[in-house]
Amino acid sequence: MSSVSVVGLGAMGSALADALLAAGHTTTVWNRTPAKAEPLVERGALRAATVTDAATAGEVVVFCVLGYADVHALVDTAGAALSGRVVVNLTNGSPQEARELAVKVRALGADYLDGGIMAVPPMIGSPQALVLYSGSTASFEAHREVLQVFGRAVYLGDDPGQAPLHDLALLTGMYGMFAGFLQSAALVRSAGADVEGFTTTLLVPWLAAMAGGLPQMAAEAAEGAYPAAGSNLAMQAAAVDTLAGLGRAQGVSTELLAPLFALMRRRVEDGHGEEGLAGLVELLHRG
Ligand SMILES: NC(=O)c1ccc[n+]([C@@H]2O[C@H](COP(=O)([O-])OP(=O)(O)OC[C@H]3O[C@@H](n4cnc5c(N)ncnc54)[C@H](OP(=O)(O)O)[C@@H]3O)[C@@H](O)[C@H]2O)c1
Repeated sequence: MSSVSVVGLGAMGSALADALLAAGHTTTVWNRTPAKAEPLVERGALRAATVTDAATAGEVVVFCVLGYADVHALVDTAGAALSGRVVVNLTNGSPQEARELAVKVRALGADYLDGGIMAVPPMIGSPQALVLYSGSTASFEAHREVLQVFGRAVYLGDDPGQAPLHDLALLTGMYGMFAGFLQSAALVRSAGADVEGFTTTLLVPWLAAMAGGLPQMAAEAAEGAYPAAGSNLAMQAAAVDTLAGLGRAQGVSTELLAPLFALMRRRVEDGHGEEGLAGLVELLHRG
């Protein structure tokens, strides 16, 4: 069992501390507003009077506050008390913010791991929760058991920026899926049809079937070569004109997917109509 401190007891930090307690780890907690520590102390957590005390108490010090600026201020306050500790920052931010914070933490004589939580607080501690980590390899290996308490722990290498980059890439994929759902729900509703039935019996299985093709598209994007397997881009670009027309006819705005359709047409105009859809990566990432 390890001694772990959790700094920041909002919805997420409290869930993290709860999971540590449930797993039997000695858990010290600190929050700017002290009252939020009460329920955790009742369940067996130790209360730190200051963030410096929290840093002193834990071999592993987890930060989960609103933004990196808040973490910087707290790390500055704890200062030398962090020496010899492993700082695990689970606050959301950018890859560059993670790299800058890692430099500050290492200068204090601590190890740094950045993490991206792919879960909402009630999922923490369940097999459905995924947490991405990057930074010190030795610390990830040494504290893997603690980190797995929060959910499936996936390590992405020693560049601290990789966890937030992959976190944001996953969110990007999620919002793309939500965009498709929103547009199709609006279309079905505009026709007075059953949006819930459509979603459950048709859309979810359809998206699951289409997701099966993503690894092949990923291989093409990695290679930079886009052989069309039965559905070339020119054919798809022609079909999106029908989609846009349907939106206009139904009184449904087409603004959500219009940028995607414009990219498809541009790629065809550039002479890639016989290739596959994954070639749009070339327009998005210009190298
Ligand atoms: N909730 C989610 O679904 C979720 C999912 C993935 C990742 N995350 C990330 O987890 C982090 C925390 O989210 P949350 O849901 O726990 O947010 P939250 O419930 O709003 O809690 C925010 C926490 O940050 C603390 N805080 C804010 N500014 C501070 C400062 N200047 N100094 C010290 N403490 C400060 C707050 O302290 P007070 O109590 O004193 O205000 C509170 O403990 C965020 O970076 C978020 O993006 C959240």
